[in-house]
Amino acid sequence: MIPDEKKRGSFLPFCRPTIGEEEIAEVVESLRSGWITTGPKVSKFEEIFKNRLGVRNAIAVNSATSGLHLAAAALNLKPEDEVIVPALTWAATANVVELCGARTVFADVDPDTLCIDPDDAARRITRRTRAIIPVHYAGQPADLDRFIEITERKGLAFIEDAAHALGTSYKGREIGSSGNVVVFSFHPIKNITTGEGGMIMCNDDALADRFRLLRFHGVSKDAWKRYHRGGVPEYDIVEPGWKFNMLDIQAAIGLHQMNKLADFNARRAKLAALYTKLLADAPEIVPLGLTRYPSVHAWHLFIVRLDLKAVKTDRNEFMLALQEENIGTGLHFPTLHMSSYYRGKYGYKSGDLPNAEKAGNSIFSLPLYPLMSEGDAEDVVRAIKAVIAKNRRS
Ligand SMILES: Cc1ncc(COP(=O)(O)O)c(C=O)c1O
Repeated sequence: MIPDEKKRGSFLPFCRPTIGEEEIAEVVESLRSGWITTGPKVSKFEEIFKNRLGVRNAIAVNSATSGLHLAAAALNLKPEDEVIVPALTWAATANVVELCGARTVFADVDPDTLCIDPDDAARRITRRTRAIIPVHYAGQPADLDRFIEITERKGLAFIEDAAHALGTSYKGREIGSSGNVVVFSFHPIKNITTGEGGMIMCNDDALADRFRLLRFHGVSKDAWKRYHRGGVPEYDIVEPGWKFNMLDIQAAIGLHQMNKLADFNARRAKLAALYTKLLADAPEIVPLGLTRYPSVHAWHLFIVRLDLKAVKTDRNEFMLALQEENIGTGLHFPTLHMSSYYRGKYGYKSGDLPNAEKAGNSIFSLPLYPLMSEGDAEDVVRAIKAVIAKNRRS
């Protein structure tokens, strides 16, 4: 136990979104306007992304999961087709492949950054491979040049899961500006939020039209075009689609969040630097490494690895002990290939993807968000050190 005078008095949650009066006023304005579903605020939100990233199309959706689903659907996958994704990611990256009727192939990750390893991904390409979906993990970019080279050489589609990477750069290029299909997330713990939400970026106009169609039932015109003054209510179903559109109520939040992104990310970087400094004398807890190529980290997550040889607890017990000390933590992620569904379907065995498995058992994420104070970060590290002291192997 941490002595009472040191133990934090109130619980520090793993995350809290930063919502200001501007966001609240804009949502209220939307509610009062009589137009709350997809409309002018969504268009404005899409324009912000197009202008910022210099890409021809931005298609707002109700989550990154929906965006990835549309990206996978547009591949027109057949049952034996394969799509390569990292073994360490949120379920959505792989689930959409399965939901589109194809087979997921997991690739291992870099042991330092936990970004998908391009060499391992390349080794897993077969005649049936159709696409690779790297994740820009925790806010650091995957090795884009390598993946562009591999996918172009092999004639594969390339989809970037950028759920963690709003504000991330790779060799001076901002993630989302590549012109490939790139999907951002605005879930409440992400670098900006719309409550739930996502954005698909791409330069290919025909593909973008298909995304727009499939995000709304496959209907040739959205509600705004049908019901707004001058709109014609008649519509056509071009192909069956989903109900994945973003609401104006959500975009209302996002419009103001985007004005604050630079400040949010700067604050995240400052807190991350403080964590790194404070943890330097705790060898049992090792923050993830930085990319070996030039990059800007969006610091979506501050992930650390627990040295399981140095302590008597496992990672889960360690996280629970931190909770006892009033510190919330997150887990990003346990390995996906060892979950019941994927292991059951594909027969993965322990040791098949060693870097992902080692990380999956030892990592956890520290609280990291703009509303945190330096004192909060100090409390987190103090609690970590206290739990280590109690559990150090002698
Ligand atoms: C790597 C990754 N991809 C996709 C998603 C899905 O994002 P959303 O919650 O917006 O659907 C997440 C969510 O956390 C994620 O971490």
